[in-house]
Amino acid sequence: MTGAAIRAEGICKSFDAVVALNGVRIELQPGEVHALIGENGSGKSTLLSILAGAQAPDDGTIFVGGDAHGSLQPRQARGLGIASVQQEPQLAPALTVGENIMMGRLAVKGGLVAWKDVHRDAQRVLDFLGISLSASAPVSSLSTGRRQLVEIAKGLVDEPRVLLLDEATSSLDDADVAALFAVVRTLRERGVAIGFVSHRLKEVMTLADRATVLRDGNLVGTLPMAELDEHRLVSMMVGRNLDTYWHKAEVTPGKVVLEAKGVTRGPLGNISIHVREGEIVGLAGLVGSGRSALMRTLMGVKPARIGEIAVAGAPVRIRSPREAHRLGLAYVPEDRKAEGLVMGWSILRNAALSIMNGRGPLAILGKAFDRNAYEHGSTGLRIKASSPQQVVRQLSGGNQQKVVIARELATSPRVLLLDEPTRGIDVGAKEDIYAQLATLVRQGMGVLVASSELPELLGICDRIYVMFRCSIVAELKAAEASEGTIAYWASGAHEMNANGAPS
Ligand SMILES: Nc1ncnc2c1ncn2[C@@H]1O[C@H](COP(=O)(O)OP(=O)(O)OP(=O)(O)O)[C@@H](O)[C@H]1O
Ligand SMILES: [Mg+2]
Repeated sequence: MTGAAIRAEGICKSFDAVVALNGVRIELQPGEVHALIGENGSGKSTLLSILAGAQAPDDGTIFVGGDAHGSLQPRQARGLGIASVQQEPQLAPALTVGENIMMGRLAVKGGLVAWKDVHRDAQRVLDFLGISLSASAPVSSLSTGRRQLVEIAKGLVDEPRVLLLDEATSSLDDADVAALFAVVRTLRERGVAIGFVSHRLKEVMTLADRATVLRDGNLVGTLPMAELDEHRLVSMMVGRNLDTYWHKAEVTPGKVVLEAKGVTRGPLGNISIHVREGEIVGLAGLVGSGRSALMRTLMGVKPARIGEIAVAGAPVRIRSPREAHRLGLAYVPEDRKAEGLVMGWSILRNAALSIMNGRGPLAILGKAFDRNAYEHGSTGLRIKASSPQQVVRQLSGGNQQKVVIARELATSPRVLLLDEPTRGIDVGAKEDIYAQLATLVRQGMGVLVASSELPELLGICDRIYVMFRCSIVAELKAAEASEGTIAYWASGAHEMNANGAPS
């Protein structure tokens, strides 16, 4: 094919002993959505960052607009019309949405930055995207999902010819995903070439025209989506067939291990929930509905001032995450980079962090102990790293998330709180996490899991609470619930009267 918007050939990239890319070829045509698929650590982000000029390949050539380049500089790539949205949010939390979007392109009038223009221009981009956000809102006030929308808006300011999206949808809820897809389709019609990484295969199948599959840094192949189904895609990715998917543990729930009664904190209003031994309880709701805030309150990150919390029947005051850990609560937060991991530490030291929380600062010195705990926690997660001593910053996004999950499982908690546990995790590892949860609840652990992926909640939970505007609005048995009923409650439809107006 000729006339590719961007093409790369023979791309090789190694980090010490790790071969991230081995002679990979990819080509994005104008007006196509091209999915890049592969397990965690297969080289997707590395390839996109090479196309965006953020990293230089060891070998290979990048062709843009008829010119061959051995590598690109970030500024040069932007000048060539290549925009990218990276997997890790790069926003400055202290600045407003508009300032972040327009960063690097600030309009200067008479030697001063024209803030009014900045916010007006940014607002136009947001409105075009159909994102209901104010350009003057501080980024620090936004959820992870909303921040990701700001990242995308930022990538679109220069009207790029090539747009590279690395897991741009992973922390968005269905409504925001739909809004983003509408934008992507519009851009495609305008002839933009879109490179798209996502672990949500269903979503990929509906959006992409072609897919390139990577496995361990090698090109498996590039195929039109019309020739692929989910099964074929998965077997190309993992090199084996996956048949079982949801691992629903058939456990009769025991005593209540975690209970909240009338808990109120900040926007959270009068929350009452409970989790039993051997039970997986879901928290459904839109982005911003309070699921993460509730988890942070239960964990003592933002302690409850009003209401009662009991663990295994005993009333407790949880004033810090350390106290929560000591009581047997473990927590995998949504924003793993900010709340979960010390990026400059090794995997092992990170794994030891939560154990240390429960046992005092000296525990971290016990190396043998760390390793045992880590090995216990990481069972089945297939973390791709050169060794447990490897620095976490060097791991792929999905593998960093697996480290947080392994670390929390290593504490053998009574209750495990998971916020979007499989976001950014490949299909093979998702299956492993579900299987691991099934084993743990059989041993009596209780699980509270927040997820924006309704099939996931319906697949693994016994019961599901639905949140709307920071309150619990419904409690459903998973066996009797459907995506439709959950969406009904989560969208606030119950508050509308027959005319569609709030009652
Ligand atoms: N700066 C780095 N230093 C060392 N190793 C690295 C570095 N960046 C990436 N790697 C390694 O290169 C391999 C490919 O990583 P990459 O981030 O491209 O994977 P990915 O396909 O995007 O995975 P994920 O789905 O988890 O995001 C991994 O083994 C990773 O550990
Ligand atoms: Mg990645």
